[in-house]
Amino acid sequence: MAPFDNLLLQLENGILTITINRADKLNALNIETIREIKTAIQQVYDDPAIRAVVFVGAGTKAFVAGADIAEIAELSDVNARSFAERGQEVFSMIENSTKPVIAAVNGFALGGGCELAMACHMRVASNNAKFGQPEVNLGLIPGYGGTQRLTQLIGKGKAVELMMTGDMISADEAKDLGLVNHVTTQEDLMPKCYEILNKILTKAPLAIGLVIDCVNAVFDKEEDGYQTEANSFARCCTSQDFIEGTNAFLEKRKPEFKGN
Ligand code: COA
Repeated sequence: MAPFDNLLLQLENGILTITINRADKLNALNIETIREIKTAIQQVYDDPAIRAVVFVGAGTKAFVAGADIAEIAELSDVNARSFAERGQEVFSMIENSTKPVIAAVNGFALGGGCELAMACHMRVASNNAKFGQPEVNLGLIPGYGGTQRLTQLIGKGKAVELMMTGDMISADEAKDLGLVNHVTTQEDLMPKCYEILNKILTKAPLAIGLVIDCVNAVFDKEEDGYQTEANSFARCCTSQDFIEGTNAFLEKRKPEFKGN
């Protein structure tokens, strides 16, 4: 795998753990880190040995404390647009990965950090995690998809409140809002993420990827999600894994899915 300056990658049992590794800056996403995440996600798309992904922040304090404010301070109207579009593109790659991606939110998930977590398919947070979109404190708004995904995840009223006040919320509050799937102790965070992914990895990979596609279709104005679902359902029925899954049920044994 390509060497990275700002990421640590570890592949074990098909699960790639991507650690954002700028602990001295609370893992703030500078442009180089966004570039490296793009390269890493492209590897996820391309490498059949990678079957699932966990994002986590280095250290014990932060998942990601936002885009790098030192770089943001230098933006002008021209490069700010491409700055936002580049981040949006990378986060869409994460969201559209047909391999499951979990954010292990191990501390501050602010601004671009909250946006990164929201681009993942699920979020598991340790009880010290804090979520927020504090961009208004800088005279900004979220630029990496936050206005869209936060609204999709928690609804308009709560989303605009968080984005207009810049308030930080706890992991438990985030769970109550539906922003987080599970809250754990700090110690249990990674085991919980691996437990969820190991369960998913026992299922048919094609079906898992198509669940992701169909759920993403809900939020795509160009797409008829019901049609996508019917097409995907039909696609499953042509797969070897479908034959294996139904036969295994009828033969009262565990299925062995091969991913074809
Ligand atoms: N961009 C660049 N650097 C950041 C950063 C960011 N988003 N967030 C934290 N850092 C840096 C700090 O500048 C500091 O660096 P230094 O030691 O070289 O001075 C280091 O990380 C530690 O942060 P610090 O502020 O000292 O920690 P804290 O515990 O007092 O506060 C936060 C933690 C998260 C509340 C605070 O760092 C913060 O508000 N960060 C910005 C959050 C934000 O607005 N994100 C959205 C950006 S669009």
